[in-house]
Amino acid sequence: MLGTLPLAEAKKKLERKGYLSIDVDPTLDFVEEINRLKKEKNAIILAHYYVDSDIQDIADFIGDSLQLAQEAERTDADMIVFAGVHFMAETAKMLNPKKKVVLPDLKAGCSLADSCPPHLFKKFKEKHPDHVVVSYINCTAELKTLTDICCTSSNAIHVINSVPEDQGIIFAPDKNLGAYLQKKSGRENMILWNGACMVHEIFSAEKITKAMVRHPDAELIAHPECEAHILEKAHFIGSTSGLLRYTHESDVQKFIVATESGIIHQMELKSPNKEFIPAPPNNTCACNDCPHMKRNNMEKLYLCMEYELPEIILEDWVIEKGVACIDRMMEISAKAGL
Ligand code: 13P
Ligand code: SF4
Repeated sequence: MLGTLPLAEAKKKLERKGYLSIDVDPTLDFVEEINRLKKEKNAIILAHYYVDSDIQDIADFIGDSLQLAQEAERTDADMIVFAGVHFMAETAKMLNPKKKVVLPDLKAGCSLADSCPPHLFKKFKEKHPDHVVVSYINCTAELKTLTDICCTSSNAIHVINSVPEDQGIIFAPDKNLGAYLQKKSGRENMILWNGACMVHEIFSAEKITKAMVRHPDAELIAHPECEAHILEKAHFIGSTSGLLRYTHESDVQKFIVATESGIIHQMELKSPNKEFIPAPPNNTCACNDCPHMKRNNMEKLYLCMEYELPEIILEDWVIEKGVACIDRMMEISAKAGL
């Protein structure tokens, strides 16, 4: 049995909805219950900076994609609870094939990962057989089986520079990060897959310019998944952890932040006297939220820890073949001191 629902019925629901939807006692204290389950099950909660602040506050470790993969690799917990999106939980599973990895909602996907279906990418790759494939970690486990070296936004330039200069590269799936790396490395022999992140492409250059005029004392900081015309205006470009570090160490007191709004919680905790303004999007929505990250909530987190579902299951061949590009990335990161 799962709570009041027979297991088979709950699993059917899970397949349809992607998460356990079971009536929960409304008086339940999720913080207390989640902390109890962490101890009882020797579980670790890994959370990305983009999830809601209540989840960040209860997590054992908060980080960007690289830091989360590194923490997943070194943990001795029996169960990894990933408060993030599907590709991140898959990466944790690939690094820990024998451990249980759970994700509160299987439908917490990623527009970047979705923009690169492995069967289409395979055909694309066949057209450029002499190219090395570098894939942003924001891709499916199956795409990683077609990849030579993985990268995240914090180590991407080191990964690109590790490839001999005369060697052609296919970079997938983020065309914006790819174009940024091309510019930064000065390489001409990079072919870019045409994918993008729905959150980082939403910013309005016009509204950002107006915000910069209104706040002349503020610096614009941006994630490299943003489009080139936004990056051109930025005072600083960096991964999520890079942006966090920069705002903390800089003497500047005010920042316009062009990335997902969840990171502002940690920026405010680290620098309580500084001001953080979310960069304005090009629609009428007031925020730059990733709808996938925001599928995580405290109730789903509690249920997934209690019932150890939904679990990330990957075929053996996918883990064996796909993990090689992650291992390669970890080696390059370690060498770079990241
Ligand atoms: P980083 O965690 O590498 O900054 O990437 C941001 C992101 O979009 C994660 O989905
Ligand atoms: Fe994917 Fe963009 Fe959401 Fe990150 S912010 S998970 S890249 S859709």
